[in-house]
Amino acid sequence: MEKALEVEDLSLTINGNTILCDVSCSLEKGSFAALCGRNGAGKSQLLRCMKGLRKPSSGNILIDGAVADEKTRMKRIALVFQNAEMQVVSQSVEKDIAFGPENMGLDGKEVERRVDYAITLMGLQDKAKQRPQTLSGGELRKCAIAGILAMEPDVILLDEPFANLDYPSTLAVIKALITLHEKGYSIIVVSHEAEKFLYHTDTLFIMDKGRIAEAGHSSSLYSLLPDYDIYIPDNASFEDLSWLKR
Ligand SMILES: Nc1ncnc2c1ncn2[C@@H]1O[C@H](COP(=O)(O)OP(=O)(O)OP(=O)(O)O)[C@@H](O)[C@H]1O
Ligand SMILES: [Mg+2]
Repeated sequence: MEKALEVEDLSLTINGNTILCDVSCSLEKGSFAALCGRNGAGKSQLLRCMKGLRKPSSGNILIDGAVADEKTRMKRIALVFQNAEMQVVSQSVEKDIAFGPENMGLDGKEVERRVDYAITLMGLQDKAKQRPQTLSGGELRKCAIAGILAMEPDVILLDEPFANLDYPSTLAVIKALITLHEKGYSIIVVSHEAEKFLYHTDTLFIMDKGRIAEAGHSSSLYSLLPDYDIYIPDNASFEDLSWLKR
């Protein structure tokens, strides 16, 4: 199986504190992965290292089998932060989504094509002219995701995409992620709300104290989740996500 992203022996030390220690993991092309673990385990710092926002003390990050420098990673890996609203800066949804591709120096026609694609994929057609400040939490997060899609990344990383969202907004973001997965994007979602999306993922990484403690097919690791204080209900139907209403 081809790898979209590989992390090799990555360590990060800040002011003498070991934040990440010999982290090695890989994401298969087109897979939808969860990255879980307790507060302070190192999840967000690992995403920042992957993206190129933080320089690791040692180790390599590979894209498509080749070591990728920070500049390449900044371009090919997208990171949606928890406070996605901070990433939304323009006067309308479509202008906001156009911001990234415009900054890449693409011509107007190509920007338009990408904006249309991202808006359609995220189901934001009715919101295109609306001011981002007036969107609901879920719509705003979808707008942030559309903004990164328009830059056509290979890998999409999301840090706590369900934080502060109510049921309809959570559902909207989960559906958006499922759509991205169906489209073949390689995705890693960091979240404490494993019960909301783990059943849709194929891969699970569990971090503990700066290390990857477990990695494998999500379903094969369910029994280990309580060891890391992660709980999911055992007998819920996950088909239509309606159990989330409870
Ligand atoms: N600039 C820094 N200086 C010192 N320690 C830092 C710095 N940035 C992060 N850390 C530490 O790195 C560790 C990992 O942080 P990180 O944000 O990656 O955790 P996390 O797994 O994302 O946790 P959470 O679930 O709470 O978001 C934490 O103990 C944090 O205090
Ligand atoms: Mg975090």
